[in-house]
Amino acid sequence: MIKKTLDKLSISEIIKLFENLEIDEDGKVELRCTKDNFDRLGIKTFVELAQIFLYKIVDLSFKDVYIITLKKLDTNKSFHIQSADSEKYGVESEFFNINKNEEISFLYYFEKALQFVNISSRKSVLNIGVNKADEFLAIKEYLSAEEFEKKNFLGIDYSNSAIEYAKKQFMDFKNVKFLCADINKLEDISLGKFDLMISIGTLQSSNINFNAKFMELYQNHLEQDGAIILGFPNCRWIDGEMIYGAKAPNYSFNEMGLVLKDIHFCKKYLQQKGYRVVITGKDYLFLSARKISKN
Ligand SMILES: C[S@@+](CC[C@H](N)C(=O)[O-])C[C@H]1O[C@@H](n2cnc3c(N)ncnc32)[C@H](O)[C@@H]1O
Repeated sequence: MIKKTLDKLSISEIIKLFENLEIDEDGKVELRCTKDNFDRLGIKTFVELAQIFLYKIVDLSFKDVYIITLKKLDTNKSFHIQSADSEKYGVESEFFNINKNEEISFLYYFEKALQFVNISSRKSVLNIGVNKADEFLAIKEYLSAEEFEKKNFLGIDYSNSAIEYAKKQFMDFKNVKFLCADINKLEDISLGKFDLMISIGTLQSSNINFNAKFMELYQNHLEQDGAIILGFPNCRWIDGEMIYGAKAPNYSFNEMGLVLKDIHFCKKYLQQKGYRVVITGKDYLFLSARKISKN
């Protein structure tokens, strides 16, 4: 294990230290600093260091000095580098081990989005790319049991194993249904219209034409006064950790151009249709839209 003392180092010197750090086989780094220096740096510095340089904070203790132990993440353990088929996100995938609802920076902003679209007043909810139905679980926890059971939910995904898993999770709820179907072939099923549409981390998939699919969903499957929540991952999942910053093709660092372009397209489109649109979030950016005029 590499050991380093951070006392007296400026933030710039700490960045250089990490840029040039050569780790041992165990992948661990032990950082030490006095209480004064720990207070000067703030715990956020260690959280950010871990995020930026791909470590996990595995221990924090105090005995005369603060000792913070970091462990390098295994970048091979990421669903981003797995094959592209309908089971890429199935029960056997790395993705399936992720629980977004355990991440405060996801759940806090998702709940704010639910509040913005006035989830309590919605009667039917469609989730495009529902996977194991984390978003429905979050809504269930957010609402009272009575409010939840008054609404109808439908989740769609082409991963058969994820849909089977989701069905089991909600087997006691007659108002929650799931469908194994390809989003690119919605014309083959009579889906109907919903007054809230949710899609998190799905419409930007490489097999989907983002702009065309978004407009089709809006035109064919949203009620007149329907609301929308779209979630755009601005993070990567590596070795079980949510790492800030979207990874774009052809860039080694996080680059947000594509995410912002897609968000901007949806925002302009919905504003022209008489919607109030807000963009919030951090590791996931949420576009939430509710109707304000009868355009
Ligand atoms: C990144 S995951 C997001 C899942 C879930 N919304 C979440 O955030 O945990 C994308 C999901 O979209 C599904 N998906 C991708 N392309 C699809 C398609 N053409 N038809 C149906 N589902 C699709 C995948 O199977 C996967 O479950």
